[in-house]
Amino acid sequence: MAFNFITATEAAEMIPNGATIGLSGFTAPGTPKFITEELAKKAVREHEAGREFKVNLFTGASTSDHVDGAMARANAYNWRAPYQNVPDLRKRINSHDCHYFDRHLSEMAQEVRYGTFGPIDYAIIEAADITDNGEVILGCGLGNVPTYAMMAKKIFIELNDKLPKSLLGMHDVYLPLDPPRRREIPIYAANDRIGSPILKIDPAKVVGIVKTSSYDCVKPFTAPDEVSRQIGSNVVRFLVGEYTAGRLPKEFLPLQSGVGNVANAVLYDLGESKELPPFMMYTEVIQDAVLELLQKGKCTFASTCSMTFTDDTEKILFSDLNFFHDKILMRPAEISNNPEVIRRIGVIAMNTALEADLFGSINSTHVLGTKMMNGIGGSGDFTRNAYLSIFSCPSVTKGGMISNIVPMVAHPDHSEHSVDILVTDQGIADLRHKDPVERAHAIIDNCAHPMFRELLRDYLKLGKGGQTPHVLKAAFAFHNAFNDTGDMRNADYAKYL
Ligand code: COA
Repeated sequence: MAFNFITATEAAEMIPNGATIGLSGFTAPGTPKFITEELAKKAVREHEAGREFKVNLFTGASTSDHVDGAMARANAYNWRAPYQNVPDLRKRINSHDCHYFDRHLSEMAQEVRYGTFGPIDYAIIEAADITDNGEVILGCGLGNVPTYAMMAKKIFIELNDKLPKSLLGMHDVYLPLDPPRRREIPIYAANDRIGSPILKIDPAKVVGIVKTSSYDCVKPFTAPDEVSRQIGSNVVRFLVGEYTAGRLPKEFLPLQSGVGNVANAVLYDLGESKELPPFMMYTEVIQDAVLELLQKGKCTFASTCSMTFTDDTEKILFSDLNFFHDKILMRPAEISNNPEVIRRIGVIAMNTALEADLFGSINSTHVLGTKMMNGIGGSGDFTRNAYLSIFSCPSVTKGGMISNIVPMVAHPDHSEHSVDILVTDQGIADLRHKDPVERAHAIIDNCAHPMFRELLRDYLKLGKGGQTPHVLKAAFAFHNAFNDTGDMRNADYAKYL
């Protein structure tokens, strides 16, 4: 079939107000970069002409400034799901300019297939190659692309010449049957391949191909600061302790690691550890540190949804794809984050919290309980189903005016039932086999910043009983103090009692 080659501007012109669009990709990699920028420009023109122009956008997870930045600045979203991390979009979400459905990433595709979110008008797919009969070699991230491609009425392709065709073989495209017909997902080890190396789409749905040329534009990491390094070394110290005590199998367990600088610092430290054996990863993103671990042989295989590498690292990957071909497999989000597989293969999950409370509940998403930061992402998929779930965060933030250990989290994302280990720059609290009061003491003694320890102990002393001795009237004294005075150290329980 002869495809129609068009420009990104022409593609954007075809997309009307109110359209629902699904994008390929997961984080910046695999995510189209050009049509959305033109769509944002179109929205600005339409708004200037006094006309409504907003679209609904599904992705795999976060995107990049080419998508969420440009579209948010243009106020071009009616709604957006399931995850984002761009400051301009955060502002739109928190000021109610954009509806935002923050979903567990593993659930999104199934919900779209069931029609919960309504029909999909367009899928925009980044590709390294496409054949006349619709066989697509995808880019460096999948997200929910098999579902969006299947459900969309029309498809645009961004054909990116920076993506080598030799990426063929690094994708594992798999669409599970939906309940009640679903069978087990046949992954019994992190490196089991279950799907197809290509995405098959209906060529008749392709309305245009836009030729592009761009690396994935992942922002470089800042060098880890002292706090991230301390957290990284505490996580590794904990894992070494578990391993040498024989509480982890000899061949170790697959690791999942969240995103960001702390996660990257943890992985670098893991690479340095002499006590831990080489390991596999079963995770949703792999960052720069993982490429080095693969090169060193410390990580032997990575199952992921996206290769979230900075441009320099992406170039290293592309120049040596033969070496990495049998060491990395990219899968759709509902498989990379699949609860059944995570539980079966015993993943060790390592994620980052905004705040944790004395009894082990975690807030990953809402700053001071109200402002959306990014979203739950895959943290719930992994935390709830992991063999061991580790959360980390700095003990304090904003120069010590915020304690990340609080009496009660202002927004619960992960309950204490799913959280095994809490790590800060101060130390490690092992919450397993502890009742709520024991957990509180472990967290105060090992994780809270010394500046806040007495204040937190005072909260426990106010308790009038119950297995979890919260004092509901005073539970948010830390947050109220920050809102009223700009400093949690001014928390005064007496004001509320
Ligand atoms: N109260 C108020 N603000 C807080 C805070 C708290 N308890 N903790 C952190 N902050 C602020 C920081 O000061 C910083 O503010 P700034 O942007 O003005 O500098 C901001 O929140 C981000 O904090 P930082 O420590 O840089 O966060 P991070 O980059 O390590 O990310 C999360 C932490 C929790 C936001 C991030 O990991 C996330 O979005 N997690 C949920 C999704 C997830 O876990 N995905 C991976 C699953 S595989």
